[in-house]
Amino acid sequence: MKAIVADEPLPASDPRSLVDAEVPEPPAPVGHDLLVRVEAVSVNPVDAKMRMLAVPGAKPGRRILGYDAAGVVEAVGDKATLFRPGDEVYYAGARERPGSNAERQLVDERIVGRKPATLDFAHAAALPLATITAYEALVDRLGVDPVGGHAGARLLVIGGAGGVGSMAIQIGRRLGLEVIATASRPESRRWCRALGAARVIDHRRPLAEGLTAIGVPEVDYALVCSDLDQYWPQLADIVRPLGSICSIVRNERPADILALQRKSLRFAWEGMFARASFGTPDMIEQHRLLCRVADWVDAGDIRSPLTERLSPINAANLRAAHARVESKTMIGKLVLAGW
Ligand SMILES: NC(=O)c1ccc[n+]([C@@H]2O[C@H](COP(=O)([O-])OP(=O)(O)OC[C@H]3O[C@@H](n4cnc5c(N)ncnc54)[C@H](OP(=O)(O)O)[C@@H]3O)[C@@H](O)[C@H]2O)c1
Repeated sequence: MKAIVADEPLPASDPRSLVDAEVPEPPAPVGHDLLVRVEAVSVNPVDAKMRMLAVPGAKPGRRILGYDAAGVVEAVGDKATLFRPGDEVYYAGARERPGSNAERQLVDERIVGRKPATLDFAHAAALPLATITAYEALVDRLGVDPVGGHAGARLLVIGGAGGVGSMAIQIGRRLGLEVIATASRPESRRWCRALGAARVIDHRRPLAEGLTAIGVPEVDYALVCSDLDQYWPQLADIVRPLGSICSIVRNERPADILALQRKSLRFAWEGMFARASFGTPDMIEQHRLLCRVADWVDAGDIRSPLTERLSPINAANLRAAHARVESKTMIGKLVLAGW
């Protein structure tokens, strides 16, 4: 089958960084695995980090990268109960297995969702990784009630226009929160508002200053999607006493946890691969949340964050996509569709 492989950690501008290859088909699925024919993939910052082997645990060699995918189930393992051949699915996969940048891929059904029926494969492929991250961050880490019991509470999404921010704004709004997003450019500000952010402030200015200017002294929840080092010293000032903070990005410098003590603030990490990497007993929750969000998409409450599209899925387009994502200026998501 066709695949795009990463042999060496090279800049995306180097033609040898990601190359077209013929590779053996995956084996027949066993257990909870599905064999999926990949129709579209999306590129996330973690794809580029894995290409450069910057993620701990990554192994060198002829690797098939890629996480986000939408496609069609071709075969199922003996323990699979959630899907049948012919079902259309979307998923973000796992770090430890061959990725989605191939015509066919094995994936555990417990981290796979029913593809939204109203979306084509390209629009569906833009969703899963950012959706899982944003949903888990809001509901599982920040403690937002998944059935709207915290309606009216204020959520600050730092880095609102990126892939995860785009989904956090929409899911937060769907759960009844008043979402304040940060964005630094006119086009990223417009995107945040179009997705449902009630207010947008500029993250190049101190956050407290931006919030004061819109008459919001403190928020209930803060989600950090970029540069934790920059924002950590500001968070305790802008989150209310007993409020909650979640970060999806790591700090590079030591962070002073005492800063959170006076207001009894809660801090949690979100790692969307944790359930699959450790095979946690509740990993099927990712199947459930993807199906739930698919329902919201089909009801018209959530839209696909697809903003840029390349075709076909080949090494040249994937290198261009990696370079685009590495620029850290993405608004929404970039998708590659069709072989
Ligand atoms: N822990 C997890 O499970 C998990 C999951 C997904 C992603 N991540 C990580 O989370 C980060 C964001 O992912 P993503 O897919 O949302 O990225 P992305 O789509 O590449 O984010 C692009 C956005 O980042 C914003 N941005 C750039 N510099 C910023 C800054 N200093 N402060 C605030 N916003 C800034 C830009 O907004 P403006 O143009 O408006 O400045 C741009 O719209 C990446 O590092 C990724 O690896 C972690």
